Amino acid sequence: MAEIAVIGCGQAGLVVATSFASLGHQVVGIDIDRRKIEACSRGISPIREPGLDALLLDGVQSGRLTFLAEYPDVIEADFVFIAVDTPTSPSGACDLRALKSATTSMAPVLRDDAIVVNKSTVPVGTCDEIERLLRTSGAPRATVVSNPEFLQEGDAVRNFTQPDRIVLGSNHPASLARVASLYQDFDAPIFTCDVRTAEMIKYASNAFLAMKISFINEMASICDVLGADVSHVAGGMGLDPRIGGKFLRAGIGWGGSCFPKDVTALEYAASLHGVRAQLLRGVVETNRDMRRQVIRKLRDELGPIESTRVVVLGASFKPHTSDIRESPALEVANLLRLGGAEVRVVDGHVAPEDVTAQFPHLVVTDDLLEAARDADAIVLATEWPEFLELPFDELARVMRRPLIVDGRNVLDDRVVRDAGFIYRCIGRPGAEGGTPVITEVVNERIDREPVLVRNGRSPVLASD
Ligand code: UGA
Repeated sequence: MAEIAVIGCGQAGLVVATSFASLGHQVVGIDIDRRKIEACSRGISPIREPGLDALLLDGVQSGRLTFLAEYPDVIEADFVFIAVDTPTSPSGACDLRALKSATTSMAPVLRDDAIVVNKSTVPVGTCDEIERLLRTSGAPRATVVSNPEFLQEGDAVRNFTQPDRIVLGSNHPASLARVASLYQDFDAPIFTCDVRTAEMIKYASNAFLAMKISFINEMASICDVLGADVSHVAGGMGLDPRIGGKFLRAGIGWGGSCFPKDVTALEYAASLHGVRAQLLRGVVETNRDMRRQVIRKLRDELGPIESTRVVVLGASFKPHTSDIRESPALEVANLLRLGGAEVRVVDGHVAPEDVTAQFPHLVVTDDLLEAARDADAIVLATEWPEFLELPFDELARVMRRPLIVDGRNVLDDRVVRDAGFIYRCIGRPGAEGGTPVITEVVNERIDREPVLVRNGRSPVLASD
């Protein structure tokens, strides 16, 4: 068993620290946020992530997991993982201040043979820079290995313990082999490469996933005008294993703490070196346009949105997280507000003060019926499970005008329309009052689960 230190106890760092502790390693988590460290030391997770509470408590109680709010005289660890925030600065560049400060703080207290493993998402070339900085700041023999993380919020513990792949990049084969040995019992391929390629794999993966979503959203816009149904287009396309059915859910677009920052940082890095990454620009622009489409759909039904009252369902950037960073839902709410509408955001899973700190003019509540009183429209922006079974009859009674724009294509349009609502969604004009053509296709390819696709309803897609 190894001794491991994890610098940065946020979303990724805490999952890495607790998971390694659960595998029997001795782990210390270090973070400059004293309140976070106090909570973690008592076994209380400062972030919401399924499975994390139990791992943390178990790690702390077993003594395998400890936390520090400052650097010790010596970090007694074979491996020092870095998992600090690398946000986007206003220019679009990746802000590496936290990473550099962690590097210079740890350098004088590292053990001579310690390997620094970077998990933070960083521009290509950053690990080389970390290594230089370590060597000039008191760790002359330090080596760095890039080990990008592919954790999805809400599924991070499972992603860590059952990964699809482990990517390791280094210019030091011996260090790379030592880090690989940490993962030898994982049931996943270990992909090794040079350090810059590993950094690029992370950016390229996130950019590709964002592109997949923007692609299907662009298809949705075309479906809207040509009378096709994007859910079925995605269902039909996704059965081709070269395409795959995941990340093809059309809607108001992608957000969160990763895709927006990573696509922007990659495009910025490309432009710095004279490469016009036009596809990446298009991926971002299509995403932005999906927010504006909601406003256009509302205008089609309501006329000018000024002085209308609109309920936005959802504040988090996706369901099953309280994270509101770069949330598509809040961007839509903000656009509506800027257009003069009175906006009420309904989400019982986020802290209202987190929302108002960013958007002071938005009202956040968990009282759906009160929010909907005298409203002119509802926009479903984040597909929390409770929004899939709304009390449509009651809503129709209290609202001024019964209109729903389903920004995630998750509602059953028949149920919504039966309650007297006008129903609009993304890229499914047939579900907006047209005549659905009923076809049933049962795919019985033996190498896959049968997939039932019914026109007019959402097809069964491989889950994400
Ligand atoms: C993403 C990646 O999926 C992870 O692999 C990666 O490790 C992580 O970023 C990171 O770089 O740390 P995450 O930000 O948790 O994970 O969110 P996703 O589940 O990927 O969703 C991102 C956004 O895309 C959400 O706003 C979601 O609603 C949207 N989305 C996703 C769609 O609009 N359609 C889809 O089909 C799938």
